[in-house]
Formats: sequence, structure tokens, C-alpha cells
Amino acid sequence: MASSCRTWQCLLALSLLSSAAYGQLSPSFYATSCPTLQLIVRATMIKALLTERRMGASLLRLHFHDCFVQGCDGSILLDDVGSFVGEKTAFPNVKSVRGYEVIDEIKKNVELLCPGVVSCADIVALAARDGTFLLGGPSWAVPLGRRDSTTASLAEANSDLPAPSLNLDLLIKAFGKKQLSPRDLTALSGAHTIGFSVGNWPDMRRLSSSTFRQQTTR
Ligand code: HEM
Repeated sequence: MASSCRTWQCLLALSLLSSAAYGQLSPSFYATSCPTLQLIVRATMIKALLTERRMGASLLRLHFHDCFVQGCDGSILLDDVGSFVGEKTAFPNVKSVRGYEVIDEIKKNVELLCPGVVSCADIVALAARDGTFLLGGPSWAVPLGRRDSTTASLAEANSDLPAPSLNLDLLIKAFGKKQLSPRDLTALSGAHTIGFSVGNWPDMRRLSSSTFRQQTTR
């Protein structure tokens, strides 16, 4: 992953992002109820990245966009059904966040061995960690035990997910709203050394790294 994101600060920030609102989470949450969970996630992620390396980056971003709206509760995964409107069509997500089908694949594989045990929110957090690691970045222990949300917020997705046009003051404010410091913002922005952008966002590249890819993926 990012050369600027190889320090303990980065691991701490990623861990904070995924566990900020959950005091009771533990990496060993499924140790007895689903001991093969992490193997299943890792194997499915390896398969996904063999098909397309970029998927590691895409799932890290999906995790970030999940966590910034109502916490890391899987709310981004909920489809629009009838009068229910989820977050997938929010401006920062639509035609941009990708990898939902890989989460579905991991969930399907997990259900075969551990039916009805593991939340999708935890699967997203593990997939983001494994995608980062498999692309050459750091690894970290993922606190587990999140519950999946039955609600979502299109309005919060539109208002809280940071737009690429935000200046530094507004980015600091947006992260501060989620109890993340300017230091966390700096470390987490190192995620942009992997992945792909369909837009041309010069300020984003300045904030992140000159290596943020516009046309190719690492
Ligand atoms: C600081 C505020 C942030 C802004 C304004 C921002 C904005 C963006 C934008 C505009 C893109 C390109 C999307 C596209 O062209 O479809 C992008 C890609 C990406 N972002 Fe961020 N982002 C931010 C923070 C983060 C954080 C905290 C993470 C994860 C820790 C992250 C991970 C990624 C990754 C991995 C990609 C590439 C995704 C892919 O290739 O599919 N970003 N971001």
C-alpha cells in the first residue's frame, strides 16, 4: 500500500475507522462460532484479486464509505427495495463504489460453513484489510462483532462522505465529525496510493500522493 502508510499510525487510524463506535468488538469474536472465517475471507479475496488486482483497493474504499455513514454497519450494502432507499445511489457512491459482488461471494462462502453467524459489516472490514495486505500493504487485527444495520441513510451519505472538491479545513471538519483527527486524515489518505480514479481530481492527488493512479492500478 502507501509508502506513507506503513507506520503504526496508519494501522491505528484504519483500526479506529472500523471500530470507532464499538467498544465491545474483539478480533476473537468468532473464534468458536466460526473459526475458519478469516481463512474463507482470505481465500475468496485471493481469488478476486487474481481476477482483478484493483478489487483490493475498491473494497478498502467500500469499507470507508460504509463506516462514514452510521458507522461500520454494512448499511452501504442495502439495496433500494420498494419505498426503501439505501446509500448506493448517493452521489459519492453511485457508479463509483464497487465490489459489492465480492462481498456477496464471501458471504455465500461463509454461510456454507457458518450459517447465520457472521455479519456482513464484519465481512466488509475483513475484506478491506485483506485487500490492502494482498496489494502489498500492512495488515492489522480487525475488531469483530458488528451487527448489520437494517437502516441506511442516503442523506447522511450525501452530506458526510467527503467530496474531492473539499479544501483541507473542510476535510479536517468532515473527519472530526467522525472523531478522527487530522493525523488520522493524513494517514488514511495514504489509501490513495492504490486504486483507480475515473475523475481527474488534482487536489485529491495533492492531498494523497503523486502516485494516485488516474488510469491504471498498482
Ligand atoms: C479524505 C477524503 C477523501 C476523499 C475526498 C476521497 C475521494 C476519492 C475519490 C474522488 C476517488 C475516485 C473515485 C472515482 O473516480 O470513482 C477515490 C478513490 C479511492 N479512495 Fe478515497 N477519498 C477520501 C478518503 C479515503 C479514505 C479514508 C480511504 C480509505 C482508507 C479511501 C480509499 C480510496 C481508494 C482505495 C480509492 C480507489 C478505489 C478504486 O480503485 O476502486 N479514500 N477517493
